Amino acid sequence: MMSLEEGMLQLDRVLSSFTRDKKPESLYVPMDYLLGLKGKRMRPQLCLLATWALKGKVEEAVYPAAAIELFHNFTLMHDDIMDNAPLRRGRPTVHAKWDVSQAILSGDAMLVEAYKMLVLGNPLHLKAGIELFNQTALEVCEGQQMDMDFEQREDVQVEEYMRMITLKTSVLLGASLKMGALTANATSDVQDAFYDFGLNLGLAFQLRDDYLDTFGESLATGKQLGGDILADKKTFLHIRTRQEASSSEIELLDQWKGATDDPTKKVSEVKGVMERTGSEVALMELSNSYLDKAMAILNTLPLEDEGRNMLSSLSEYVTSRKH
Ligand code: IPE
Ligand code: IPE
Ligand code: MG
Ligand code: MG
Ligand code: MG
Repeated sequence: MMSLEEGMLQLDRVLSSFTRDKKPESLYVPMDYLLGLKGKRMRPQLCLLATWALKGKVEEAVYPAAAIELFHNFTLMHDDIMDNAPLRRGRPTVHAKWDVSQAILSGDAMLVEAYKMLVLGNPLHLKAGIELFNQTALEVCEGQQMDMDFEQREDVQVEEYMRMITLKTSVLLGASLKMGALTANATSDVQDAFYDFGLNLGLAFQLRDDYLDTFGESLATGKQLGGDILADKKTFLHIRTRQEASSSEIELLDQWKGATDDPTKKVSEVKGVMERTGSEVALMELSNSYLDKAMAILNTLPLEDEGRNMLSSLSEYVTSRKH
């Protein structure tokens, strides 16, 4: 039976070879470029880990895991256009390096490639796998549209923000774990418990992502620092900061709304108010509280110590990571 390490190696081989000899190169090279920069591969790891921890066949999880990582990279390619992001994984984004049309089309084609991987999984789980994938993919689009709509609004509440990040980010972590459980022939109760674990882990993950966007190191994150502030994203940080700010600070924040003339000053002044109100501390407390919820669910899953410990270490990393 394939080990977890062999599963990750096989995943790597699949992801680095599927574009071979495909033409036109201008469509496939951006995929290779983004995938070649790798990233953390968190979602496929969760998928393989779930299958392995439930004593399923890791080799059967490789294609579904590859499908999920391709889908994730497709969302990143388009997300960077939408967020006007210059950097990804420490390199220029696809639309910056080539152009927006190429990033749109290469992303579209990568989504189709994701489905091609998905249908290479165990035929027994194909219908359930495609249904899970379809629902997740639509929800990610819904979350991404909410994220964009929120840029134009100032009355976004924390509950709406939580709903938005559940859709744009958490459901994919949940689906990765559920896909792994499905591949291991787990009961639907166990599949759902894995999904729930992933939803909470995903919230902790996106809250940490928002933290790093403003308070991380660009060299570590590989992204532009302060991108969320520049795009007027309605993050928990943003919402909480306005709730706690003094009237003169609110005035300052209002002056920067929609401003594009002095990005460096915008980031430093808005960040200053966030720090003054202690919002980055509150943000990380919230992130940790969702990690706790995820861990509580993890402890109810029918796993042996080794599997539970692996999932637990990967989870801990989510709220302490620097990239
Ligand atoms: C970035 O995801 C997009 C979010 C949902 C926050 P990751 O932080 O997993 O990105 P990579 O794949 O490791 O680069
Ligand atoms: C992205 O959220 C979520 C998806 C790509 C679906 P962000 O816009 O915060 O992700 P980063 O910070 O650019 O990686
Ligand atoms: Mg975004
Ligand atoms: Mg983004
Ligand atoms: Mg982000």
